[in-house]
Amino acid sequence: MPDVTAPAVLLRDVRLDRGGRSVLSGIDLSVPRGSVTAVLGPSGSGKSTLLSALTGELVPAAGTVEVFGQRVPTRMRELLELRKSIGVLLQGNGLLTDLTAGENIALPLRMHTKLPKPVIARLVAMKLQAVGLRAAGDLYPRELSGGMARRVALARALALDPPLMIYDEPLTGLDPIASGVIMSLIGRLNASLGLTSIIVTHHVHETLPVADHAIVIANGRIVFQGTPAELEASDDALVRQFLRGEPDGPIAFDRGDLAPMEAAR
Ligand SMILES: Nc1ncnc2c1ncn2[C@@H]1O[C@H](COP(=O)(O)OP(=O)(O)OP(=O)(O)O)[C@@H](O)[C@H]1O
Ligand SMILES: [Mg+2]
Repeated sequence: MPDVTAPAVLLRDVRLDRGGRSVLSGIDLSVPRGSVTAVLGPSGSGKSTLLSALTGELVPAAGTVEVFGQRVPTRMRELLELRKSIGVLLQGNGLLTDLTAGENIALPLRMHTKLPKPVIARLVAMKLQAVGLRAAGDLYPRELSGGMARRVALARALALDPPLMIYDEPLTGLDPIASGVIMSLIGRLNASLGLTSIIVTHHVHETLPVADHAIVIANGRIVFQGTPAELEASDDALVRQFLRGEPDGPIAFDRGDLAPMEAAR
């Protein structure tokens, strides 16, 4: 039976390796249900790698990863089942260019349900409305602005009503106004649909206002966990360097040739 009291996401002493070297280690993280968590950190620090452990794309080298109280399965059938409960919005939108916005949103419903066409059409209309694009269903991706396309991708990620949403750099390529629209949409959907959201981003100042929790990843580990207010107040040298975007400091930049732990020395 599913454990309804378990956190949405729970990592215990997790180590994640990529290409034969350790990207993250000693990761302990508990994401409460209903919360919005911002995952911050410099480029190459392992933010996307962390997300890939939640979707089961990357199997941890050590430790355990649980989603809604269930160990992320390794068997493909069970994994596909779990993935239906995780909505993913990736940086590139991933919209199919020869399908309309509405057809793109219908895709997961057609693939994973046996719902009749009129019901799917109704659900697509509801998702479009949820992202404020009621009239855009018949437009092709090339006819959409970057911000609209991102909202269509968001509607598609929501198609199966997943209780957990993960966003990898949802603001990339958007101007400040479109960024504000997307972020407040992410926050509002989280509250109105009762979701749990994890947002990977380096857009700190746009993201923190909608976040309940923030974590900062650097040098192969979590260097900060707390509320946005605690983050802003932190006097940790790593955190300060990251927030100010300074090249010199305890975070080693541009050291991709070294393992993160080595680069930290
Ligand atoms: N498939 C892969 N094979 C080998 N190494 C990888 C792979 N994916 C990522 N890495 C390495 O793992 C480290 C973390 O990468 P990751 O993509 O998680 O960083 P990130 O924090 O998401 O960076 P960005 O902000 O630039 O997206 C990097 O050093 C990267 O080179
Ligand atoms: Mg990334």
